[in-house]
Amino acid sequence: MLRNRNRLQSSDDFLILTKNEQIRKKMERLFREEIELQTQALVFFLFEDSDNCYIPEILKDNKNFIQELIKANNFQGKKGESLTFFTSYFNSIKKIIFVGLGKKDECDQLNSQNAGGQAYSQLNQKQNVKHATLYLADPGLKELTHHIAYGALLKSFAFDKYQNKHKNKEPLSLSIITTKGSTGTVENKFQKLEAVAAGISLAKNLVSEPPNILYPESFAQIIDEKLTEAGAKVKILGEQEMQSLGMGALLGVGQGSIRESKLAVMSWQGTDTSVQPIAFVGKGVTFDSGGISIKPANGMEDMKYDMAGAATVVGLIYALALNKIKVNAVGVVGLVENMPSDNAQRPSDIVTSMSGKTIEVINTDAEGRLVLADALYYTQSKFNPKYTIDLATLTGAAIVALGGQYAALLSNNDGLADQLAKSGKETGETLWRLPLNPHYDKLMDSEVADVRNTSSKRGPGTITAAQFLQRFVNKTPWAHLDIAAVAWSKEGTDTCSKGATAFGVELLYNFVNNLIN
Ligand code: BES
Ligand code: ZN
Ligand code: ZN
Repeated sequence: MLRNRNRLQSSDDFLILTKNEQIRKKMERLFREEIELQTQALVFFLFEDSDNCYIPEILKDNKNFIQELIKANNFQGKKGESLTFFTSYFNSIKKIIFVGLGKKDECDQLNSQNAGGQAYSQLNQKQNVKHATLYLADPGLKELTHHIAYGALLKSFAFDKYQNKHKNKEPLSLSIITTKGSTGTVENKFQKLEAVAAGISLAKNLVSEPPNILYPESFAQIIDEKLTEAGAKVKILGEQEMQSLGMGALLGVGQGSIRESKLAVMSWQGTDTSVQPIAFVGKGVTFDSGGISIKPANGMEDMKYDMAGAATVVGLIYALALNKIKVNAVGVVGLVENMPSDNAQRPSDIVTSMSGKTIEVINTDAEGRLVLADALYYTQSKFNPKYTIDLATLTGAAIVALGGQYAALLSNNDGLADQLAKSGKETGETLWRLPLNPHYDKLMDSEVADVRNTSSKRGPGTITAAQFLQRFVNKTPWAHLDIAAVAWSKEGTDTCSKGATAFGVELLYNFVNNLIN
């Protein structure tokens, strides 16, 4: 059902030159032909403080022309600066693009990814090109080349499978020419990043699918197919099995829908079985109408992305498995559809969760926490994880508190929280920690059950939701990421077009790698 529509093709399309004269000569011949035959755009990356733009041998007759363009247009190579010329240069070349990298000693992985994304945007603007060549030869780019390519690859994601006008569009292929560093290492490093991009792409596709196509059963089927193919193990639980486990909280949410609820359990074993796994738990509400506490019509369409936490968990485990990361990881996602119907759960219902705790359902729209209560409890009792991290588009209050710049982080463990926040800074998927404490916890006390699903007073909704979750967490170091504000972007960024963001895949992939390195 999901087609992989990455516009940028796989690493086979990237030809990288080396300093080895012999290989270089051979490659240059190849590229000369390729440029004459196919390449429709040339992209040059420039640092702000170095005046020598790398112009490869094969363009040397035109060196002055290219340098003149840079000078005459006062192109300075600043971060975020880019310039596109439409030309009839050579036979096929339609565009010459310059992209700034900023100051050389300040240019890091994130800057490089952004520059790659900007290059991709320029290539895609106005006149489309089918093949472009990126020139990356400054010695300062040695450790960054693969990040530039990765940025372009991330930006190339598009969810356009339902638009007839895009049906026969040819994908853009890129060649990268660099003279520095050994081809092998750059290629290997890029291959690793490609797997992360594949995880991100999988997550974005899942989040973008409409809820008539992606519902618990079809979601579970995709998880089974994709993760098995990547080398992970998958187990899918249906309603009957969940019933026997006593998952009354999760099942209550799905009971109003004709779609059967599912729990998908993924495990990647990258190291010795005796090593405790890291567990990732995701909210997978494939559509959140609010249920009987129905949401207003305006904006309800956004609730197709209420399964973004689950999508991130799937994309993450996929990337970890593809790259055979030496870690044991489990992913557990609760897949349900929250609908009103004659069989739907009612406000005032009391359900019994797998933990044995009873929950008074005050508002059927506070459903994500009910799903997570059982998914978290199941994960902890079955896998005894070292850390448990859950992701959920849990509260509108997270949007009010932090907007699109940060996901909310709540945790029972300072060390874990710090490591996650650090990984957020490194990847640009930033987190802001909010407190948990007994005062907030009290707001979740019920007079008729063990806990209520919404706060008894108006208050900090993101915190009280996390306090609810904490009641189902044992002593395991646990962190909750409320991604309601960051899972979907109406604006987009340099490396991510508007729409699904797959927030958390890079953050957690990096977090896992930091743990083992
Ligand atoms: N899925 C929503 C939260 C949400 C809102 C995600 C906007 C993304 C964008 C969640 O299930 C919900 O409805 N939460 C309620 C909780 C309230 C009833 C206590 C909310 O935030 O209003
Ligand atoms: Zn809801
Ligand atoms: Zn929801």
